[in-house]
Amino acid sequence: MKVRKAVIPIAGLGTRHFPASHAVKKEMFPVVGTDGIARALFHYHLLELDAAGIEEICFIVQPGEDKMVKKYLLGPDKNYLKRLEKYPALLREAAEMKKFSEHISFAVQHEQEGYGHAIFQTKDFANGEMVLLGLGDHLFRGKLVSPYRELAEMVKVSAGKSVSAVNRISANELRGYGTIAGVRRQENPRLIDVSLIIEKPTVAVAEEKLHVDGLPKETWLGWFGMHLLAPSIYEILGEMIRNNIRDGGEFQLTRAQELQRQREGYLAVEMTEAQRFDFGVPDDFVASVRSFRHSA
Ligand code: UTP
Repeated sequence: MKVRKAVIPIAGLGTRHFPASHAVKKEMFPVVGTDGIARALFHYHLLELDAAGIEEICFIVQPGEDKMVKKYLLGPDKNYLKRLEKYPALLREAAEMKKFSEHISFAVQHEQEGYGHAIFQTKDFANGEMVLLGLGDHLFRGKLVSPYRELAEMVKVSAGKSVSAVNRISANELRGYGTIAGVRRQENPRLIDVSLIIEKPTVAVAEEKLHVDGLPKETWLGWFGMHLLAPSIYEILGEMIRNNIRDGGEFQLTRAQELQRQREGYLAVEMTEAQRFDFGVPDDFVASVRSFRHSA
């Protein structure tokens, strides 16, 4: 089995980046690649997913934003292209990105009712297949292999279950992440059979309930920002939306993931080589722009 599809949500409001996000959505903020080229943040997801062998990519957008994304990918008009002739690398980039414009699709989230609600909009796109999901305001880099590919490969051992990428987090990071308890597989200790998922636990709850063997003291495994989702996630999200089951006013993916775990089991894979870059708040954005530029 091969994972062919990926979804990237970019329909959030980006409130924490106000007022910049009032001018440009955060997933379109400029980020400089290791090659020195400035691209819109979301563009790197396309490059990484393409390199990971993903065939179909769906962006979750606000109404009208599909045109904006397509316009970006289609590149500039003839006059502008003429100016780019002075910069061959940028001219090549314009040709490369144009190819993506023909291959991507969009799902519209009409109201911003949370991350889980956003993912639900891709039910028809997924059409019963396992899908890769990457947080739109994060980027990922692997030293040896693309993290998207690494996670997609897990389909071979997951027996149809969802698999979330996790990495080590400390006590002060718990408030930012879905965090797991579980047991490592003997034959592959990076792979964990998850026994509980809690979104943004307190330190006390994490100490009591979120144990994974083989971790140093006061260290937990939290969401890395990408998931390989089994199709039943859409039924569960649909039930949550019908029954208006919200957390903090929004439909949260983590609750759906915990329900999915209870019904059919859930796996996590510890990312040991890969790096994640969080662009979601201004200070993290500044730090991530710098470190991404010089990442492996
Ligand atoms: P965030 O949790 O950062 O939410 O979303 P946000 O709305 O973008 O930002 P703030 O909290 O208002 O500052 C994580 C990812 O999920 C997408 C966002 O675009 C971001 O890439 N998202 C979030 C949606 O697509 N729809 C939503 O309703 C919420």
